[in-house]
Amino acid sequence: MEVNSGSKLISKSHVHKPQLALDEKRGMIPTILADSYLKDISNFKVRNDDIFVVSYPKSGTNWILYTLHLLNQLQKNEKVIQQMSPVPYMEFPEGYDVAKAASTPGQYVRANDMPSPRVLMSHLQLELLPRELRARKGKLIYIARNPKDVAVSFYHFASLTTNLPGYSWPEYFTKYCQGKTHRGLWFDHVLAFWEFAQGNEDTVLFLKYEDMILNPTSTVTIIAEFLGYSLTEDNIAFVVNQTSFENMKTACVPLNAGPTKTKNNNNKNKPSFMRKGKIGDWRNKFTVAQNEFFDAIYEGKMKNTGLHFDFGDQ
Ligand code: A3P
Repeated sequence: MEVNSGSKLISKSHVHKPQLALDEKRGMIPTILADSYLKDISNFKVRNDDIFVVSYPKSGTNWILYTLHLLNQLQKNEKVIQQMSPVPYMEFPEGYDVAKAASTPGQYVRANDMPSPRVLMSHLQLELLPRELRARKGKLIYIARNPKDVAVSFYHFASLTTNLPGYSWPEYFTKYCQGKTHRGLWFDHVLAFWEFAQGNEDTVLFLKYEDMILNPTSTVTIIAEFLGYSLTEDNIAFVVNQTSFENMKTACVPLNAGPTKTKNNNNKNKPSFMRKGKIGDWRNKFTVAQNEFFDAIYEGKMKNTGLHFDFGDQ
């Protein structure tokens, strides 16, 4: 069965395998994205004070979201609630269960009714985001992370949620290098936003996960300045402290990212984005051969882009 022109349905009926379509340009994406929501998202009405947080998955998205949650409350002089509140994940169905997406509204629908200023998140490729956002209405924060740690983080996450197929590590690695995992090729995703950010620093902020780890104070300050917030050094220090890995583990209860692959659906086994939070964990998974193979691709794709990542090299 074809799901739409340009997309080939390659997996359609396994209890633990969501329907994934291979789109030549965008890699593997849940068919629901190809089918029902994309047109609406493209036409989504962006407001001038919207803040979109966008990333390739497993790049520190929730870290930025929680940082914004705190910064926004401080800026408004509100009593700070140290608990992450849900942010609409534009292209995901309410309830986070991809299998039910055909009969469930996308979270972008809820976003339409939210009061301003809104924080919204997405893992969509640049070309699939709202047209008005691409025309530079609203603000966009893109967070990127070195692609080796992204691969390992995502591989672990995929083993937990039924929204994603389960892979062996060698299988995942091969598909990841080919852009045939969820959200397509890391290089295509990241480089499109990197290019988009050049010369548009007033509306697009391109951040790196590794900078958040190594220089949290300056990164949080950069975010606050980008948003035009006037906060004190104490405010920034507070946010840095609250968004540490350890503090976020309690402030951000396990993500409701859809049904889990284990029957034991307690919080411990729910898919959590708080796993290790380190630079260089890829060393525990990549073989020497995989590393050499990946380095060759990386060199070719990143050459002359001016974009560099910290791999936690020893
Ligand atoms: P690991 O799986 O390597 O631990 P996302 O939010 O985009 O899904 O990204 C999840 C990744 O960001 C996970 O990586 C998670 O541990 C890491 N992360 C989330 N909050 C963090 C924090 N405060 N400090 C460091 N890493 C964090």
